[in-house]
Order: sequence, then C-alpha cells, then structure tokens
Amino acid sequence: MALQRLLLKKAFGEAKPKSLCCFFSTAPPSLPAFDYEPKPYNGPRADEVFQKRKQFLGPSLFHFYQKPLNIVEGKMQYLYDENGRRYLDAFAGIVTVSAGHCHPDVLNAIFEQSKLLQHATTIYLHHAIADFAEALASKFPGNLKVVYFVNSGSEANELAMLMARLYTGNLEMISLRNGYHGGSSNTMSLTALNTWKYPIPQGEIHHAVNPDPYRGVFGSDAKSYAKDVQDHIDFGTAGKVAGFISETIQGVGGAVELAPGYLKLVYDIVRKAGGVCIADEVQTGFGRTGTHYWGFETQGVIPDIVTMAKGIGNGLPLGAVVTTPEIASVLAQKTQFNTYGGNPVCSAGGLAVLRVIDKEKRQVHSADVGSHLLARLRDLQQRYEIIGDVRGRGLMVGVELVTDRNEKTPAKAETAMLFEKLRELGVLVGKGGLHGNVFRIKPPLCFTKDDADFLVDALDYSMSKL
Ligand SMILES: Cc1ncc(COP(=O)(O)O)c(C=O)c1O
Repeated sequence: MALQRLLLKKAFGEAKPKSLCCFFSTAPPSLPAFDYEPKPYNGPRADEVFQKRKQFLGPSLFHFYQKPLNIVEGKMQYLYDENGRRYLDAFAGIVTVSAGHCHPDVLNAIFEQSKLLQHATTIYLHHAIADFAEALASKFPGNLKVVYFVNSGSEANELAMLMARLYTGNLEMISLRNGYHGGSSNTMSLTALNTWKYPIPQGEIHHAVNPDPYRGVFGSDAKSYAKDVQDHIDFGTAGKVAGFISETIQGVGGAVELAPGYLKLVYDIVRKAGGVCIADEVQTGFGRTGTHYWGFETQGVIPDIVTMAKGIGNGLPLGAVVTTPEIASVLAQKTQFNTYGGNPVCSAGGLAVLRVIDKEKRQVHSADVGSHLLARLRDLQQRYEIIGDVRGRGLMVGVELVTDRNEKTPAKAETAMLFEKLRELGVLVGKGGLHGNVFRIKPPLCFTKDDADFLVDALDYSMSKL
C-alpha cells in the first residue's frame, strides 16, 4: 500500500490519494464510517417476502438485483438489509427521500401531528395544510402562488393536465419522447417510454423529439428540437394546444438534461399558440440540482403550472401542483376535492422537509457534493472507454455506458453486470434510460463527498474487473 501511494504521488504529484485509491484496483473500497447501529431484525427473510409478494401482489411488480434485497431499515443516506449490512443509497428510493432516511426532524413532525390528529379533510380548517401551502408557495418565482395537494406524482400531473385543458379550452397535449410522467391512464399517455405504457388509444397526445444533447438527432441544437414542437402544433394539433409538459431533467429516461435554451424557445412557441407550460419537478425539485431550487430555473423559464412529488415528502405519499391564481380560477367553477391531499400528517411532514432543506443548506450542499461527484466521474470516464457520457447537475447524475463511443452502442449487459457488482460492494444506484444502460445517481441530499468517493471507487473497482 505504501509503495502504491508512493507511485501515485510520483505519477500525480500531490493529487489526493483518496480520490485515486482504486487506480490500481487492488482491494475493494469500503464504506465511509457511520456512527449508527441498526436495530436487530427478526422479521421474515428475503425468500419468504419474495414468495409472498409473488403470490399476492400484481405480476407487473419488478425488482432490482438477481437476488432481491430485503431492506429493513434506513438512516440518512444509508440502508440496512435483513442481516444488518449497510448500503450506500445512491438512488433514494427513486429520488423520493430528500432530507435523508428517517430524518429526525421529519419523523418528529409526523409523530407529533399523528398523536393529535391523523386525518381531517379540507372541509374543516387545519393550520398544517395552510402553513405548508404558504411555505411551499414562498419557494416559487413569479405568480406561481396557488397550491393544490395530492397524493402522488401521477395525480399531480393528472390535475395539471385537467387545468391546462380547462383553462385553454383545448385538449391536445405535447410531451417529450423519453419522458415519464406517471402510471395512471392519462399520465401514461404523456409518457413516451415504451416499457412503461400500454398500446391503448391515447388520442390528443403528441410526443416531440427529445432534446437530448448526447443521443438526440440534433445534438445540443435547441432551435431544431423546438421546431419539432412548432410542427406538432401546426400539423398535429391544428393549432389547438392545451399544454406542453416536460421534466426539466429526465429522470426515468436516464438523467437527461434538455439542450440548453430549449424550454425558453418551446415555452414561447406554446404560449403563442395559446397553450400553457407545465414543468414536472417530481424528481428535480427541492434543491437537488444544486444551482437552483427548481429544475426549470436551470433553463431560465417560469412555467404556468408546476407539479411535484417524491422529494416533497421524504417518503410520505404526497404530491402538489402549484399554479397562478388565473389558472386556478377555472378549477373553481366546480368542486375540487381530494380526500387525503394535504392531510395534517403529510402537511406537517412536508413542512418539516422544507425546513430541513433550508436549515441544513441542502441546495448548496448538492451543488458542492454534486460537482465533486461529477468531476470524479469525468476522471473515471478518461480511463474507461465504456463510459460514454457523464451528465447531470447537483445530485441528479447519469452515467451512460456504451460498448462503442462513436456508435454509442448501449452496453446493456455490462451495465447489468456492474449494477450487481456495485450492490455486492455496498452501493445501490438506479438503472434506466431508453436502453437500460444508464446508472442513475440520485441520493438523499445528505450524501457526502466521502460517499461520492466511495461510489466512484466502487465503480472504478468494478470496471477494472469487467
Ligand atoms: C418525473 C416523474 N413524474 C411523475 C412520476 C409519477 O409519480 P408517482 O409514482 O408518485 O405517481 C414520476 C415517478 O417516477 C416521475 O419520475
């Protein structure tokens, strides 16, 4: 080891030995220290749970890993399996945990509210929903000041679509290829990832060419991609567009950032045609991108409607739609009611999440740790041909693997192998993209530089063994 360090020093001067610890890929890296002892677990084991799941739950459920993990406890950025083994959670239950697993402030808010009152619909007054709405609205620019609470991202997008259609009097919606907006019938129509949708009639939805700088047909040329939206409006919708919806960085599609300047051009086009612009912030919001609190801000636009879920509740079933008073007024023509949306427990938990993100300065932290992670991944890209693209912002990062950098041939089998290897080493990442060849790295926002180093070292070690 001393010799190795000496050689490293000779080759790289005073470069941090830690960040190069796996240059020679001798020993597997180990998890950063963490002062927490998981509770003893005496519940059912993985095989039993898996059997029961197969017998009683829908056959469409999928799971990660050849041998599915039985996760029984979570603490901040770590998860523990049935044997008390610790894993670095670099996927946050699909970007759902923002503050950290079982963050004490969020837990406390949920407990305290649960002891007083678990449920009261909006037919009665309760301060929790009003306090939460006020705090959430304060996070938005422009006239985005009216909040609706729902229970999930799909529901938020359903409501956004309803608003767009009622407000404009049009039906046609435009979304992006490679986008994902939910599992309900309507949101599945917006979704243009074949593995997630059924071939059922999906009228009035138009899928525009994806402005993907890495794989897209026009590279980073936002104008050419925007022209496709104009074509859809002119020829597909006959000029009658209700709205345009897109994620501000595609999540399920593989952490794909939209070509710079794209949303500005498209929002202009859509608004000129009488439509409204919806930003799906289900994965990107709440400081995750680091430079901004909301993903849409990275493109310099202000949407007419914003939808959110996942990170808003740190694991609670909670979603929201925020819009302008003008758009909201059309929904007041009829009754708008949601039994659980904004219930006191979720509202108290959601408010605590906002406070934690502010108190612990998680947005700045995301920028800081995210740029360290991206820099280290880009170093790795110099050394491994298989890494075709490293992209993202803050703690919303994608690593796309290819067997040929020029052809960008998806390295599907290698991705699957590395995915298993990472898990063996104690790192849980997500996997996605159109071809299933992208590692999705979206940890809880308390993820540290040491965690980032461990993740990259584990990837380095695994790739050296490919
Ligand atoms: C961008 C985006 N929108 C909407 C949804 C749907 O959210 P939910 O699963 O809470 O319905 C998801 C879920 O992954 C998502 O990633």
